[in-house]
Amino acid sequence: MRAAVYSSAGPAAEVIAVQEVDAPVAGAGEVLVRVAAVGLNPVDVKIRAAGHDFGAIRYTERPGWDVAGTVVAVGPGVAGWSEGDAVFALARFPEAAHTLAELVALPVSDIAAAPRAWSAAQAGAAPLAALTAWQALDAAGVGADDGARVLVLGGAGGVGHLVVQLAKERGAHVIATARPAKQELVTAWGADEMVDHHDDDALAAIEPVDAVIVTVSDTLPPRGAIREGTAVVTITGYSAAQEAELRAGGADPVRRILVAANGPQLAEISALADASRLTVHLDSEYRLSDLAAAQERVETGHVTGKVVVLVDPRD
Ligand SMILES: NC(=O)c1ccc[n+]([C@@H]2O[C@H](COP(=O)([O-])OP(=O)(O)OC[C@H]3O[C@@H](n4cnc5c(N)ncnc54)[C@H](OP(=O)(O)O)[C@@H]3O)[C@@H](O)[C@H]2O)c1
Repeated sequence: MRAAVYSSAGPAAEVIAVQEVDAPVAGAGEVLVRVAAVGLNPVDVKIRAAGHDFGAIRYTERPGWDVAGTVVAVGPGVAGWSEGDAVFALARFPEAAHTLAELVALPVSDIAAAPRAWSAAQAGAAPLAALTAWQALDAAGVGADDGARVLVLGGAGGVGHLVVQLAKERGAHVIATARPAKQELVTAWGADEMVDHHDDDALAAIEPVDAVIVTVSDTLPPRGAIREGTAVVTITGYSAAQEAELRAGGADPVRRILVAANGPQLAEISALADASRLTVHLDSEYRLSDLAAAQERVETGHVTGKVVVLVDPRD
């Protein structure tokens, strides 16, 4: 079968190849999936460029964590899944998963039925970003129908556009930052208030919130948004000094999360999609043979929604 392979650390166009490799087999507790689509995430390009592990996140020469596709075989001990099922997954993260290939073996603990309401491209694009959004809101204590005021720093990116929708789904009043050109889209995803992150006066005017979800690097929430007990959850991380500054302003808790694979949470996400309460916006679609261009698109940092790679045996 064909699979994406990195020859070494370095720029996308120089180190990515699509090669023939041995096909995997479904082990105990796994299904073998014919891959249709694979979402790309900033972690894919950062780890390719670096060529080594990031903390718990494993470097691999055979990349890919997101996936949507069709079950073609089930391994020993698997119940409830059969050939022909359409599934999606964030596979094995933060361990290596090798989804950027024609076939992949997936642990059943990581998979869920793909939303019928979404294209395969949307299903493949969503898992890592959607689970990050879900787990960040959980970490911030944003529950169902508690009417929280939630500030999303970066409402238009892969994770941010799903945080906006899932926070709204949990009954929150959502304030999101994005440049003016993207605000109409973010409003359509459910944001109640939009703020241009280049507009210091508008940032300073944000009133205190219950939770801040931070999806952009090197950006502290505006001081006025923090009150005693505002939960701040970052997916990009803060320095010790930034954390201290947040705590001094009353933020509590201040947490950094790392997304974890979770099939049952993906099943809940799938149900929301099928109820037309959650969508995935596709920034752009690429073929597996154009993986380098797809990664370069992610590397711009200006993606709106998700970049996805389509895996088609006819290409
Ligand atoms: N901890 C975890 O488990 C985890 C999980 C997923 C992602 N991440 C990390 O989280 C970050 C975001 O991931 P992602 O997939 O959402 O990235 P992404 O899709 O590449 O995000 C790009 C978007 O962010 C916007 N943006 C950039 N700076 C901004 C700012 N200061 N204010 C408002 N919007 C801004 C960009 O808008 P413009 O075009 O206007 O610049 C663009 O729409 C990455 O660093 C990623 O590695 C961490």
